Amino acid sequence: MEVTRRRSVLHFLITLVVLAGAGKGQLVENFYAGTCPMVEAIVRQTVVTKVGQTFTTIPATLRLFFHDCFVEGCDASVMISSPNGDAEKDAEDNLSLAGDGFDTVIKAKQAVESVCPGVVSCADVLAIAARDVVAQAGGPLFNVELGRRDGLISQASRVVGNLPDPTFNLIQLNTMFARNNLTELDMIALSGAHTLGFSHCNRFANRLYSFSPASTVDPSLNPTYAQQLMAACPQNVDPNIAIDMDPETPRTFDNVYYQNLIAGKGLFTSDEVLFTDASSQPTVNDFANSPGDFNAAFGTAMRKLGRTGVKIGIQGEIRRDCTSFN
Ligand code: HEM
Ligand SMILES: *[C@@H]1O[C@H](CO)[C@@H](O)[C@H](O)[C@H]1NC(C)=O
Ligand SMILES: *[C@@H]1O[C@H](CO)[C@@H](O)[C@H](O)[C@H]1NC(C)=O
Repeated sequence: MEVTRRRSVLHFLITLVVLAGAGKGQLVENFYAGTCPMVEAIVRQTVVTKVGQTFTTIPATLRLFFHDCFVEGCDASVMISSPNGDAEKDAEDNLSLAGDGFDTVIKAKQAVESVCPGVVSCADVLAIAARDVVAQAGGPLFNVELGRRDGLISQASRVVGNLPDPTFNLIQLNTMFARNNLTELDMIALSGAHTLGFSHCNRFANRLYSFSPASTVDPSLNPTYAQQLMAACPQNVDPNIAIDMDPETPRTFDNVYYQNLIAGKGLFTSDEVLFTDASSQPTVNDFANSPGDFNAAFGTAMRKLGRTGVKIGIQGEIRRDCTSFN
């Protein structure tokens, strides 16, 4: 009796805290404490099972979260399928989002729906899954804020100009991240996601074959690494060929990405510039030397990324099926 009453008082208090947070237009950590307390455990279970089947789940889900947040806000707009092929994920710039990320969210949402139907947004499922895949690869643990609602707009035409290009310099990167309330420090930490996953050859071929009139190969590339890249990605290579972005530890979420930058082994201009530009170099040196500093900055930046353009309260909807509007 007493226990039950204490629990309901606790639920009441949690609900108050959650409502107070939502009223201020903010996400909160325990948003589903009263309505779907198992949600994080359920999503984690789906992620662990799926990662056991295919490692690609990890980079695919992490990148899917980034693309969702930068286009139209973290509202699962990237999940929508359109019969006309004009939804957000159909954009040229979807940069070949791997199917395993979509599959993870769809499966996790189905598992959540079977326990608490109609309560948890696809946007929150994606945010939890993105946090969990990082942990599965040995990356930092951090608490995820919840309470997002699913968006009602998903258009390929809205992608253009909202995602960073691999040829960007520091000012272009900073400008685009600042539009999403992310600082240079956040941007450098989030770029560390390139410690995992693949890139297709065409995304960096300009650095190997047509860099500038003075030098066909980008002089900021480590010459040995440039040779390796040219061997893996000869000109006119099959466009489906993709290579590891972190040549040293491609399956571990670690700070080796920053050590690679110092060694001239950043795959994209947008990676290497973080070291070659004097203003961001000290942060790269710090992250390369201190896994603790990198992990802390990455967790902070992921939480901030997760606040981008979110819909809360009565905005948007709680989608039943993540791939279509209700
Ligand atoms: C800083 C600017 C960024 C640029 C210019 C950029 C660009 C790219 C490009 C061109 C690819 C290769 C895509 C392909 O060829 O298939 C890629 C892959 C990837 N990106 Fe980024 N990205 C950036 C930031 C981020 C951020 C902030 C995250 C997540 C926090 C992220 C996560 C990933 C992951 C995990 C992959 C590998 C995907 C896979 O293997 O399926 N990127 N990125
Ligand atoms: C990405 O866009 C291309 C067309 O630009 C399309 O062929 C491809 O199916 C899209 N990828 C996904 C995962 O939707
Ligand atoms: C950035 O922060 C401001 C102030 O909190 C907010 O009004 C704005 O919507 C945020 N921008 C994005 C893209 O989330």
